[in-house]
Amino acid sequence: MTEFPRCDRTPSWEALQSHFQQSGASFDLRQAFDADPERFRTWSIQAPGVFADLSKNLIDTRTLELLLDLAADVRLEAQREALFNGDPINHTEGRAVLHTALRAPAGQGPFSDEVQASLTRMLAFADAVRDQGKSGITDVVHIGIGGSDLGPAMVVQALQSYVPAGLKLHFVSNVDGHDLAPVLRGLDPRTTQFIVASKTFTTQETLANAQAAKAWFLRSGGTDVARHFAATTSNAKAAAEFGIDTTFGFWDWVGGRYSLWSVIGLPIAIAIGSERFRELLAGAHAMDRHFREAPAVGNLPVILGLLDVWYRNFHRFTSRSVAPYHQGLRRLPAYLQQLEMESNGKGVDRGGRALGFGTSPVVWGEAGTNGQHAYFQMLHQGTDVIPVEFIAVKTPNFGAHVDGELLDKLKDQHVKLLANCLAQSQALMQGKSAEVARTEQAPTASKDLDRDVLAKHRSFPGNRPSTTLVLDALTPSSLGALIALYEHRVFVSGAVWGINSFDQWGVELGKALCNSLLPRLASGDATGLDASTAGLLAKVRG
Ligand code: F6P
Repeated sequence: MTEFPRCDRTPSWEALQSHFQQSGASFDLRQAFDADPERFRTWSIQAPGVFADLSKNLIDTRTLELLLDLAADVRLEAQREALFNGDPINHTEGRAVLHTALRAPAGQGPFSDEVQASLTRMLAFADAVRDQGKSGITDVVHIGIGGSDLGPAMVVQALQSYVPAGLKLHFVSNVDGHDLAPVLRGLDPRTTQFIVASKTFTTQETLANAQAAKAWFLRSGGTDVARHFAATTSNAKAAAEFGIDTTFGFWDWVGGRYSLWSVIGLPIAIAIGSERFRELLAGAHAMDRHFREAPAVGNLPVILGLLDVWYRNFHRFTSRSVAPYHQGLRRLPAYLQQLEMESNGKGVDRGGRALGFGTSPVVWGEAGTNGQHAYFQMLHQGTDVIPVEFIAVKTPNFGAHVDGELLDKLKDQHVKLLANCLAQSQALMQGKSAEVARTEQAPTASKDLDRDVLAKHRSFPGNRPSTTLVLDALTPSSLGALIALYEHRVFVSGAVWGINSFDQWGVELGKALCNSLLPRLASGDATGLDASTAGLLAKVRG
């Protein structure tokens, strides 16, 4: 394992600390905009497929200089090359991390022949299922969890307008039967294709759902399990034991949360077709090249990752909210939770030494404008500062079935959506003083309340940071670029923190304890359990 300097042991970390105390902590966005009419232009980056307005962040030229020094001190470029070259940077599992190879054009990148052969075979199968005239398939039920669910589910939802009208894709992940049961209702086994997605083919939730789905299939008149069930897995043997002949394999250098580009993307390919799946890969590859080749100062994943470090370790913000202003992206926050929190939610460095600083923030959010009517109150007036990431899409695509008057109306609604998006970042930044609030009439305010007290309730601190990402349209290509942007940004902050962003040992303990509790739910045996778990065991057994 190559050792890289840890961020908190570099001269730039110390310089950032004193810079933060001297001016960073008191930085004011309103003053920054007043002082520099060019701030929007200076602090925006056009990356492939994604434009970023960074100007409403608590950052100035000196902060950026020091953050770039930090990137140099931790040898970010060398770490990035180790990623792209396939060095075993997931050292606790002895694995390379090569999701970028999955979207490299044929003949480029490591393992190109294997990647292309696997892709071609998977896409041919996807197109055959999608050809409903021949396949007769109307419903695809995808069974998987974590990285074997979140990416495909999010992308299929985002690209709904590309899915043929007669084809429905369903995603089942939870071991809770309330996930599978409503999906199966009304399905015809003869027109349903199941995909069991599990890298290991050992995951409790996925196997339980797959067994239940198979039992339903056979009881409902299904006759050909081998034809109606396919698997995407690295464990073809276990899939064969289940009764699945059609298996699409992949490699240990594809991490679960980075696997939508591999055969795990099969439901995406069925939904949007092979050509569009290739566009998704090409969009991500364009972002890979940007990340690998653009100078650090204009490199969007680098700058976003460094900003994350600035906010987490110097401002000590503990969370970041993501607000996609596109209903198709409503599962993006859930996807990003796994990507960022499973990757960077670590408490030791690569050498196993405890960290004396914060790592992954809590990532959370909801599609706009829905979030505005739920938690935005706290973003505007709460006691915590939470950087927000807005995602706007310039041109809508409602699908071919929307035309005429309905299209006009929905286009108008899109203008309202964009106005809301811009207004939120503006309000967070500008705020409103009590003096201004005092001059306003608030129709719903109590007439009995003192005007000064009311003005305090109706004032906003402002100076709350946000980034706005803009896509021209939500297409396979721009979505690919957006996802790759997030992957690399998470890599950047993880590299600065000196952690292994590619393992997930934190998930293991709960799994092991579940396995030992499972027989106790049947037997009621509470021997040796702590009093709380024993009490709960008795309670849930009824
Ligand atoms: O949550 C832990 C995890 O290992 C994820 O990283 C992975 O995506 C998920 O479980 C599912 O694993 P599998 O694809 O092997 O079923």
